[in-house]
Amino acid sequence: MATVKEEMETVVAKPNPAVPVPAAAHETVVIASDEWGPEAPPDHREFVRFTRLHRTLHVCMIVSFITLALTGMSLKFSFTGWARFMSRMLGGFQVAGFIHRTAAVIMFATFIAHIVDLCKLKKREYGSWKALLLGPNSMIPMKPDLLEFIATMKWFVGLGPRPQYGRWTYWEKFDYFAVFWGVFIIGSTGLTLWFPVFFTRFIPGSFINVATIIHSDEALLATGFIFTVHFFNTHLRPEKFPMDTTVFTGHMKLAELKRDKPREYEALLASGRMAQHLAEPHPAIVVKTIRLFAWMALSIGFSIIVWIIYAMLFAYR
Ligand code: HEM
Repeated sequence: MATVKEEMETVVAKPNPAVPVPAAAHETVVIASDEWGPEAPPDHREFVRFTRLHRTLHVCMIVSFITLALTGMSLKFSFTGWARFMSRMLGGFQVAGFIHRTAAVIMFATFIAHIVDLCKLKKREYGSWKALLLGPNSMIPMKPDLLEFIATMKWFVGLGPRPQYGRWTYWEKFDYFAVFWGVFIIGSTGLTLWFPVFFTRFIPGSFINVATIIHSDEALLATGFIFTVHFFNTHLRPEKFPMDTTVFTGHMKLAELKRDKPREYEALLASGRMAQHLAEPHPAIVVKTIRLFAWMALSIGFSIIVWIIYAMLFAYR
C-alpha cells in the first residue's frame, strides 16, 4: 500500500506549475477549513492519499469482483428467476462461465500487480521486508490497532474520546487482509474447478467436490462481507454517508484528513512536508464521472445482497 513517502513522490514528480508552493507551505494548512483566520485563506488544494496505480488497481478489483459475484451467484442460485434472467442477459450459463473465468484472470492480474508494486516499493524505499511490513505505515495489524479497536468500542458507547487514527485504521487493515485471504482461498479452489484434470494428477478426485463447496461458500462469505461490512465501513458510516470517493479520486479534503486521520495529519505538519502532498482538485466532470461509477458499483452490490437474501430465504433448495 502507499506510504507517505511514495505519495509524496507522486505529487512531487508532477508539480502543478499553476500552484506556487509557499516556502512555509505547511503553516498555511495547519488550520482546518472551518478555522481559517483572516490572514490565512483556506487552501483549496486536496491531500493526495492514493497514487494513480492504487486507484486503477482498486477499480480493476471492483469490476472483476462484481463480475465474478454476478456470474458466480447466477450459477449458485441457478434455480431462481433472477439467475435465469441474468444468464439470459449474458448469453446463457456457458457464456456466464466464460465471463467468470475472464474476470478471474483480471482479478489475478490485479493481485499480481499489487505484489510487484510492493516488491518495487520495498527495494526503492525500505531496503528490507521487515522495514516495510513493520514500519509506521504498515498494513499489518499490530498492538496499537488492537488498542485503537478497544478505544473505538469505548467511544461507541460514550466511555471515551474518538481515537486519534493514523494512516490506516484497524478496519481498513482488516478489509485489506480479507481480500488477501479471499483471493488465496477462492482463487486456488477456482483454479482447481477450472483445471480439474491437471489438479487431479496431484490430489484425489473427491477434492473437486470439496473445492466446489469451499469456493461456493467462501464466495458467498466474501460477497456478503464486501457488500455489507466493507460498504458500511467505507461509505455508510455517519462521517462518510452516502459515499467516500477518496479511493477513486485519490484525494481527500484537508479538513477531512484532520478529522479522520488526526495522527497522520499532525505527523505531516510536524515534518513540514504537508505541502508536498497537496494537489489541485480534479475537474468537476471527472468527479461526476467517478461518482456515477461508484454509485453503479454500490447499487449492484446492494442488489446482489437483496438477491442472496431472497434466494436463501424463499428459494433455497
Ligand atoms: C479469482 C479466481 C476465481 C476463479 C479462477 C474462479 C473459477 C470458477 C470456476 C471454474 C467455477 C465453475 C464454473 C462453471 O462450472 O462454469 C466457479 C464457480 C463459482 N464461482 Fe468462481 N472463480 C473465482 C473467483 C470467484 C469469486 C471472487 C466469486 C464470488 C465473489 C466466485 C463465485 C463463484 C460461485 C458462486 C460459483 C458457483 C459455485 C457453485 O456451483 O455453487 N468465484 N468459479
